[in-house]
This record gives sequence, C-alpha cells and structure tokens, in this order.
Amino acid sequence: MRVPILLPLFLAGAGLAAQASAKSTDELRAFFQQNCVKCHGVDGSALGADGKKLKGFDFTNAAKMANQTDADMARTIRKGLFFGWRMPAFKGKLSEQDANRMVTDVLRKAQKGKAIAP
Ligand code: HEC
Repeated sequence: MRVPILLPLFLAGAGLAAQASAKSTDELRAFFQQNCVKCHGVDGSALGADGKKLKGFDFTNAAKMANQTDADMARTIRKGLFFGWRMPAFKGKLSEQDANRMVTDVLRKAQKGKAIAP
C-alpha cells in the first residue's frame, strides 16, 4: 500500500473530501482492492481462494452485467444492500461521480482471473 493512495482515502473517509475531488481510475482500483475484494474477489468475479464465502456480484459475467444499468449499480455502491448488511454503503467515501466511474471504468472492465489493481 502506498501513501499517496491512502492519504486521499483517509480524507474522504473523514468526510472532508467526499465531494471535493474526483478519484482517478487508479485510485478507484485501489479503493476496490481495499473495500470490495473480500466479497467481490480480487478480479471482481466473486470466485477465488475464499470460495463460497464470497457472495458478491460477478462483474466478469457479461450476461449478468448486461442486465444491470450503470445507474443502478452506482446507486447500490452508494446505498449498499439490505441496510448495509449484505453490502455496506459507500456514499461517505465515493461521490456520485466516483461511483459512476467505478462502474464504467473499473467494474465493466473486470476480466476473470485478472486482478483489479492500479
Ligand atoms: C460485505 C460484502 C460486500 C462488500 C464489502 C461489497 N459488496 Fe458489492 N455486493 C455484495 C453482494 C452480496 C451483492 C449482491 C450479489 C447478487 O445479488 O448477486 C453485491 C452487489 C454489488 C453490485 C451489483 C448491484 C446491482 O445493481 O445489482 C455492485 C455494482 C457492487 N456490489 C459493487 C461493490 C463495490 C464497488 C464495492 C466496494 C466499494 C462493494 N460492492 C463491496 C457484497 C459486497
């Protein structure tokens, strides 16, 4: 983990910079590694070493992805699922723009077996 990535995340986490600056694609990939991998897997497929523990959506499944709109996915990222029980809400850390770009630039480009990384 590199300090230049952690610092803006820390500020956003503290609520100071939530809307202030849009994250770069690499910052969004790093954010995915730190916040999403435990349920969605390193490659976003929700498959991997953790096997059945990972119950997240498979972002590498083209058919499933085709059924989701960018707006719905971005809304889920900001609101979470089942009051944060199945999936936590990230609205305190990702602006609407960040959530949209997490969908279009990171999740829609996920490939099975290829780690999502900066
Ligand atoms: C505690 C586990 C958990 C974490 C952490 C988590 N998710 Fe999820 N996520 C889920 C589950 C469970 C689903 C629903 C899977 C399904 O319905 O097939 C889901 C579904 C989704 C969906 C599909 C939503 C839709 O419209 O149906 C998106 C997009 C998503 N997650 C993005 C993220 C991102 C981005 C992060 C990190 C910032 C993240 N998730 C972190 C568990 C998690």
